[in-house]
Amino acid sequence: MNSFLEKEIAESVYTPEEIRIIQTLVENGQEHLFADWEESQAVEQKKAFLQSLLRVDTNYPGGISGYIRNARRLLEESRTGKNPFAGYRPQPPEMTNLSKMAHRAEEAEEHGVSLIGQLAIVMVAGGLGERLGYPGIKIAIPFELLSSLNYIHFYAKTIYAMENLYHERFGCRTTIPFIIMVSGDTEDGTRRILRENEYYGLKPEQVILLKQELVPAILDNEARLAKKSRYELMLKPHGHGDIHLLMHQTGTAEKLLKDGKKYLAAIQDTNAQVVNALLPALSVSVREKLDFNSIVVPRVAKEAVGGIATLVPENSSAGKMTINVEYNQLDPLLRSTVNPEGDVNGPDGLSPYPGNINVIIIAVENYVKVLKKSAGLVPEFVNPKYADAGKTVFQKPTRLETMMQDLPRLFDATSRVGVTMFPRKFVFSPDKNNLRDAAKKAATGQPPECAASAESDYYEINRLKINRAGNFAKEIPDSVLHHGIPFKTGARIVLHPEFAVTQKEIQQKIKNCTFGPHTSLVLEGKHIYLDSFHLKNQSAVKIKISPDVRLSIRNVTLDRWEGMAMRELLEEEMNNPNLPAYLKIRGYALEEKNVLEINITEKGNYYMNADGTILREEEHG
Ligand code: UTP
Repeated sequence: MNSFLEKEIAESVYTPEEIRIIQTLVENGQEHLFADWEESQAVEQKKAFLQSLLRVDTNYPGGISGYIRNARRLLEESRTGKNPFAGYRPQPPEMTNLSKMAHRAEEAEEHGVSLIGQLAIVMVAGGLGERLGYPGIKIAIPFELLSSLNYIHFYAKTIYAMENLYHERFGCRTTIPFIIMVSGDTEDGTRRILRENEYYGLKPEQVILLKQELVPAILDNEARLAKKSRYELMLKPHGHGDIHLLMHQTGTAEKLLKDGKKYLAAIQDTNAQVVNALLPALSVSVREKLDFNSIVVPRVAKEAVGGIATLVPENSSAGKMTINVEYNQLDPLLRSTVNPEGDVNGPDGLSPYPGNINVIIIAVENYVKVLKKSAGLVPEFVNPKYADAGKTVFQKPTRLETMMQDLPRLFDATSRVGVTMFPRKFVFSPDKNNLRDAAKKAATGQPPECAASAESDYYEINRLKINRAGNFAKEIPDSVLHHGIPFKTGARIVLHPEFAVTQKEIQQKIKNCTFGPHTSLVLEGKHIYLDSFHLKNQSAVKIKISPDVRLSIRNVTLDRWEGMAMRELLEEEMNNPNLPAYLKIRGYALEEKNVLEINITEKGNYYMNADGTILREEEHG
């Protein structure tokens, strides 16, 4: 140790806790952290540095020495190229396939409604979103331009609508806890948007924010910690697996159990489609008695998406696990065990290992048990980018990471893990990539996973739902390209959650209607009933009504021009610093000209006249 550091310790510059952490670090080969410190200088900064290490020591199970120990082991395994799944033989997972049977999915959804009282939802929203490059929190991005509904508002409205649906059907009130994992990067923005919007109608105590902490960056295979500057530790995100750590450390998982919440659905920050999966998947979890139910999508062999596999130890039948295996590990694992050709399609043209989308339904009782045993730390991994062939030098500091989908690696043989498959766009269309990267993906036939594709897919699936309910929302085969991203041409319909969260509600509220491929419609309000309503040409209608208003539209045909039109933004517009970021990430704008806006706040029953005007029932005589 630096002689002056010993002197400063002797002079009581540091608290006993600070001294303890210095000693722990020295014992763990971290003396370099203090090598460039200067005598009798910057005491405050030195103490702040030690405090940041103390925070890691408190938050990380096993403390800072545990982190260093784990890092050394994982770095050694990475250096020697150890296959984490060596000795396992993959098998297709146990699956409930709802991707081709709409009626089964609808039936499961209806069963799911009866289970709403058992549900809690956690959204992991601590990610930086570097690939998207949006200047703000991702949950504030509007995912559709017709009524500018953003992700957090949509999730909150869905939760509120589910609670109401449960009350309507079963006569009892329930509260769905909404847990949000934030990080240093997203905490302030998330708190602000919730406060400014009065929690979007949810009860403030129902929304629980858990903050994930960063972990130290690592310089080399000896797991020497990295510094940002002389008196500042370099810290990096530990990944979304931190949710399990926080659910344990804060006692939130246990509280859910005490409150009778039996299932926890984990969702991502920018995937509005996920709400289509929640209730049917909840039903599957209950019927199949699953402790962990991964929502999956069809995956073509070798597609660059993690595949879910049941890994069976080659030498024993005990210890099998059903987990996500990254595609670059799955193919070699299959080659060395099951088939020399690796990951190949089955007779249905799909890999038997379905695609993981990181949406999970977790049974809370087993969760609490597993968290207690593991302290909530799911197996970590490290992914250093090496600068030399000998794998001794890193291009830049690395860190240990965790993924929430790795939870089943902590399960014992009694836990049941399965997967539920849905059509991809029905449950998954996130906004992760900036325009340029998304266009490259689109050009090579991959899902672009950007703002434009998320919006296009949202309308496409709404058309599908409306058509399934016996209506005709038209789509034409050609897509429009905006900055290289295809957008499907078809009726743009926004269904706010208070209007419908289930297919049955859509069936009850939209009957015998037709919507032309260039029309636009927003349905925002609980009691809107459409029967033989026909939107033609470019008709655009936005309906927003209060909960105690009932609006019926029967036998009305609207045939209007210049309602709303999408327009690709020109390069000069894209380069304009005043262009709102939510348009910049899209590459198009929606222009409104001749929109019929219906806004009713005064309680009562209303109907639409043939010319589109609104009358109260009394006036109708
Ligand atoms: P993404 O894969 O979208 O990563 O995370 P990201 O960090 O948000 O974006 P990039 O990689 O920087 O572009 C999937 C989900 O996990 C959350 C994200 O907020 C998103 O909902 N996440 C990710 C966390 O909550 N914490 C993390 O440390 C990482």
